[in-house]
Amino acid sequence: MREVSSSYTVSLHYDRRLYRQDIAGSIAHAGMLAKQGIIAEEEAGEIIDGLAEIKAEIEEEKFQWRPELEDIHMNIENRLYEKIGDVAGKLHTARSRNDQVALDVRMFTKDAITEVVSALHDLRRSLVEKADANADVVMPGYTHVQRAQPVLFAHHMLAYFEMFGRDIERFRQAYDRADVMPLGSGALAGLPYPLDREFVARELGFSRISTNSMDAVSDRDFLLDYQSASAICIMHLSRMGEELVYWSSDEFGFIRLSEEYTTGSSIMPQKRNPDFAEIARGKTGRVYGHLIGLLTTLKGLPLTYNRDMQEDKEGFFDTHDTLLDTLNAFSGMVSGMSLNPDRMREAAQGSYVLATDIADYLVAKGMPFREAHGVVARLSDFAIEEGKSFHEIALDRYKKFSELFESDVLEISVDSSIAARDVPGGTSFSQVKRALADARAALEAENGQ
Ligand code: ARG
Repeated sequence: MREVSSSYTVSLHYDRRLYRQDIAGSIAHAGMLAKQGIIAEEEAGEIIDGLAEIKAEIEEEKFQWRPELEDIHMNIENRLYEKIGDVAGKLHTARSRNDQVALDVRMFTKDAITEVVSALHDLRRSLVEKADANADVVMPGYTHVQRAQPVLFAHHMLAYFEMFGRDIERFRQAYDRADVMPLGSGALAGLPYPLDREFVARELGFSRISTNSMDAVSDRDFLLDYQSASAICIMHLSRMGEELVYWSSDEFGFIRLSEEYTTGSSIMPQKRNPDFAEIARGKTGRVYGHLIGLLTTLKGLPLTYNRDMQEDKEGFFDTHDTLLDTLNAFSGMVSGMSLNPDRMREAAQGSYVLATDIADYLVAKGMPFREAHGVVARLSDFAIEEGKSFHEIALDRYKKFSELFESDVLEISVDSSIAARDVPGGTSFSQVKRALADARAALEAENGQ
């Protein structure tokens, strides 16, 4: 053989993580074989006790891992032989590694999703708490990174609350697709034994069994569902990370991140770099990569199992670890950040973000919106040229742009602008108050699930 690393086909260093699922699956399978009279009760008993011991050995770090046996399944099976002799061979009755690995990965995916949903829930709670504690803070809302209209900070936080709520939905859908028990499919064609597949499904907490053995051993869609939900979720986190990065800059100065989530510069003593937010933004690349990687691995595979599919795990585990850490970091960053409400209000006031409100003012006096838009565009150009804010322009100057202007135009303010947006989904104080109450109720409901 030419130079190929001896570990080329080995997956043990990463699929070791499936030991719990692998052992639980084997125990359920052995129990079912005995129940169906396919193996003797005592044999199943020996197998199950042996597997329980192996689990303890792994957890106590006494297990001798053997990479030459390639994967987690063979390591456990081999150890079972060492412990109980030839009876160990009966465990593999009516089972193939093809349906076994599908089972293990599905079980792992379900647990992974439960963890992610809980972390998303915590993050949503942090967002609501931060919004609640700063319910009267106003800031500019942006389009094109240009100050556009004043909004409540709470409204901005609740926008993320929505995104992470949709992420939870996507993960729940992914859970549902993973929640299918494949054992009993064998290598690909089903098995010539009187199996009770429903029993195994119940034992392992699956809600249903797979309906086609060929699909069951070759389907990894559930992982794609998980990976794509993860990619979308980390995209949301990355967008938020981007905002935290620039909000904490001197230019914005809206927030200060707590020290735990920043690091000093080795050379510039004044700096508090938003490393966690930046790294989260950066890690988005690998999570997208794992999704594309798996799609690409699967795209040319004929039915049914092909060894290529062993490549499904490493990226999946990495996505899971990355996403979970990132979610937890964001919960911490949101909870720990402090705001600079004066600076935020100043940014909302010190620019021309009230232009739309002035146009709406003219509309209320009967002018068509398009025309009002033109008037206020000219008014803004004038104000910018003069270096004046809208409040610093005298009424007779206003009247040169439109006769409809009266002295009350000078009453338009950041607060009146926000208060006016009292439409469901809008940023008015009362709408946001209601949205916060709804958000809290949604969190309570999620808690109960
Ligand atoms: N390590 C393999 C995987 O992850 C286990 C299944 C192997 N099956 C086989 N027929 N070689 O896909």
